Amino acid sequence: MKIIGISTSPRENSNSRIALEKALETVKSKGFTVELFDLNLLNIQTCQADDYCLEHEGCCVLDDDMQAIYGALRDCHGVILATPIYMGNVSSNAKIFIDRLYAVLQAVDSYNVAGKKFSVIASQAAVDPPMYEYIKHNLETTVDIFRGIGFDVEDVVLLIGNDTAGAIVDKEDQLNKAVMVGNKIVR
Ligand SMILES: Cc1cc2nc3c(=O)[nH]c(=O)nc-3n(C[C@H](O)[C@H](O)[C@H](O)COP(=O)(O)O)c2cc1C
Repeated sequence: MKIIGISTSPRENSNSRIALEKALETVKSKGFTVELFDLNLLNIQTCQADDYCLEHEGCCVLDDDMQAIYGALRDCHGVILATPIYMGNVSSNAKIFIDRLYAVLQAVDSYNVAGKKFSVIASQAAVDPPMYEYIKHNLETTVDIFRGIGFDVEDVVLLIGNDTAGAIVDKEDQLNKAVMVGNKIVR
C-alpha cells in the first residue's frame, strides 16, 4: 500500500518538506511504499472550470503533471499534504492542487476515495496565539473540503516559529509530530 506526499513549498530546505519527508520515512519503516510529488518542480495548471471532468468520470482534460497525481490518488491508501502558511492560508501551489481535486469530487467511486486518509502538515513563522488560532481555523476550513470529497481526515498539524529555511531541523518536538503523522496515516 502506498502513501503519497505532496510538497508545495517553493523554497530550498523547506520546513514543511522536511517534516513531510520525516513522516514519509516513518511510513516506509512500517512497510508501506511512498511517492513524493514536489508541486513546485512540476507543471500543474489551475483548474480551467470547463467541467470536462463532470462528463468523463473525473478525468481532467489538462495534459499536465497532475495526471500522475490523479493516477497515484486512485491507488493510494492516504495522502499527506505539506504546505507553508502564506498570508494566513495554504500556499498557492497547495491551492492549485486542491482546486484540481474538483475532478476527484466528480468520481469518488472511481478514485476509491472512501477509506483513504488525508493529513496536512503546515509550517508558519508566527508563534503568537491569536495568529496561531486564526491560521488553525483557516486550515480547518480547508480540510473540510477534503472531508466533503469523502477523505478520512486524520491529522492537521500546524508547526510554528519556523521563520527561516530549515529552522525545523533542531526542533525535536516538531519532528516528532511529523513522525506521529506518519504513524497514524498507516494505522
Ligand atoms: C509569501 C509569504 C507569506 C507568508 N505568510 C505568513 C503568514 O501569514 N503567517 C506566518 O506565520 N508566516 C508566514 N510566512 C512565513 C512562512 O510561513 C514560514 O517561513 C514557513 O515556515 C515556510 O515554510 P517552508 O519552509 O516549508 O516554505 C510567509 C512567508 C512567505 C514567503
